[in-house]
Amino acid sequence: MIENIISRTTVPPLKMTAPGPSPADLRRMLEAAAAAPDHGRLVPWRYLVVSGTGREALGDLFASGIAAEKPDTSPAEIEKQRTAPMRAPLIIIAIGRIDTDHPKIPAIEQIAAASASIQNLLLAAHSLGYAAKWATGAHAYSETVRRGLGIAAGDPILGILYFGSPAQPHDPPARPDVESFSGVWPPT
Ligand SMILES: Cc1cc2nc3c(=O)[nH]c(=O)nc-3n(C[C@H](O)[C@H](O)[C@H](O)COP(=O)(O)O)c2cc1C
Repeated sequence: MIENIISRTTVPPLKMTAPGPSPADLRRMLEAAAAAPDHGRLVPWRYLVVSGTGREALGDLFASGIAAEKPDTSPAEIEKQRTAPMRAPLIIIAIGRIDTDHPKIPAIEQIAAASASIQNLLLAAHSLGYAAKWATGAHAYSETVRRGLGIAAGDPILGILYFGSPAQPHDPPARPDVESFSGVWPPT
């Protein structure tokens, strides 16, 4: 269990291959996502699963978003963005469903819970032997993409998550020393 957590690392879609998570494994991953700590049990996350030809539709959305919102983008770059989703067998769009008017649970805690849920999803995928990457990039902030996905105003896209099987080794980045981010209190 602890090894599964410590050995998790991002695998870029270019280093992924088929198959992506099977329906049964995807269900287990979503069950793991549901096990995140969630103050007030608001379930402040939503996941849209995109696979098969859905990835082409997602690529079309990416391309139209970038063409509409960044008109200086070269045609070659637009085409690259159109085909980008095809690099991963399965994509999950992670959305925060944040109630900014909640009387007890501040928005930041809801985003924290949603982020924990996403990490559970990634760890579950890793433990089942899949490769994964949590990305955002311009598409996550594109109004065109948001509209095309049917995302309600105010709900952030927290991640565009790519899943597949590892095609080649990918070295994890150096991890920070625990001393650099932890300490005791009161200080001695
Ligand atoms: C909210 C969020 C958004 C991210 N967006 C991107 C991104 O758009 N592109 C990218 O290369 N990495 C992005 N990352 C970082 C990668 O997911 C990954 O953490 C990083 O490449 C380090 O690799 P590691 O996961 O093996 O430590 C994002 C991470 C988070 C938490």
